[in-house]
Amino acid sequence: MTHATAAHRLQLQPVPFVRGTLAVPGDKSLSHRYLMLGAIAQGVTRVAHLAPGADVASTAACVRALGASVDHDPASGALQIIGCGRQGLQAPTADLDAGNSGTTMRLLAGLLAGHPFRSRLVGDASLSRRPMARVIDPLSAMGARFESDHGRAPLVIDGARLHAIDWTSPVASAQVKSAILFAGLLGSGVTSIREPLATRDHTERVFPTFGLTITVDGLVCRVNGGQAARAPQDLLTVPGDPSSAAVWAAAAGALPGSDVTLTDVCLNPLRLGFLKALARMGARVDVIPGGERAGEPVGAIRVAHTRHEAATIDAEEVPGLIDELPVLAGRAALGARLEVSGAGELRHKESDRISALVSGLRALGVDADERPDGFVVDGRRRPSGGQADAVGDHRLVMAFAVTALGASGPSVVTGAEAVGVSYPGFAEDLARVTR
Ligand code: S3P
Repeated sequence: MTHATAAHRLQLQPVPFVRGTLAVPGDKSLSHRYLMLGAIAQGVTRVAHLAPGADVASTAACVRALGASVDHDPASGALQIIGCGRQGLQAPTADLDAGNSGTTMRLLAGLLAGHPFRSRLVGDASLSRRPMARVIDPLSAMGARFESDHGRAPLVIDGARLHAIDWTSPVASAQVKSAILFAGLLGSGVTSIREPLATRDHTERVFPTFGLTITVDGLVCRVNGGQAARAPQDLLTVPGDPSSAAVWAAAAGALPGSDVTLTDVCLNPLRLGFLKALARMGARVDVIPGGERAGEPVGAIRVAHTRHEAATIDAEEVPGLIDELPVLAGRAALGARLEVSGAGELRHKESDRISALVSGLRALGVDADERPDGFVVDGRRRPSGGQADAVGDHRLVMAFAVTALGASGPSVVTGAEAVGVSYPGFAEDLARVTR
């Protein structure tokens, strides 16, 4: 089946099913962390299968501007990061541009807080609307000084000698946790961060690979200041991004006759909530473990359609599938029903993902309703297809594409260029599973 892309418009035809085997792009969360830790490590960090999208390119450009060298090694094709060593980042000569990437801005803020120079972090219009007080508050308590636009970017950071804090975060956010852990490393004393619900633990898992010690005790992480990161000896190969795998898994769960396998995916249990939700909506899900790399379990995921069921997702489950809620809604629109609550954080993502998701799904002929902290999608009536606006949000492009594949008529997703933030090869992979 052919699907056409003009720069901003993705045209989609209905298909009977999705089938095949795909290797999805490298994980975005891990790629940011490998680049940043590589930049502060002593030595050369080599990374293969780095996430290809614009978000990770923003992190690479920022760490370069801070003095790390980031280049492709022509011999192996891997990325080579020559780190600056402990407290070795250099004052940038221009603004650091995080683009559309919240992870870039919040995690870098943690590193910059512990370096004794002034820097200014900027982002695009979407990132400039997102809340930054959640990192400004703890990093200021550690001794850094911030100027911001009422808790929003641009952020001017005057780094300092940081002291340890015991922080209880009011939001369940791996970005906040990671920013504090990065700052804690650079400061003195033992810094602790307690989160209200468990969030992705990539930072905790990767620290030992860079020679860093961390202790995790339930929802509390502790890190000793004064540690120096060392570049890993071995090549780091980034496993596939579960959030990208989730798109094809959602389409396979929805369309009768579908059977899709995603190879070499990061199987971090705190990222796989979407598989449980898809199973509850009637998918057959098989996870085939394939060992561990740099502290992360990896392996294949196979998803096939069996039936349609109604499902609910509530607050406890949300951190484990926060980025997948849009594609889960896209799947629910094709025969299932999904009620989501406790997901108010969705309003602070690249767009207001509750309001923009519901508007786009309705434009495709779906019964969908907004709730203050979630949404309801009732997919028992087949969507007509139509034109949905992804409002510049990559996850919404993919969510609307899933629904469009099972609609009765053709669809167009506008603002589709945003998919390049995390999945530049999306249209090609779509063609592979629908031909
Ligand atoms: C991320 C954490 C999550 C997630 C984002 C990536 C990370 O954000 O939504 O896409 O890499 O730490 P929050 O920390 O804001 O929940």
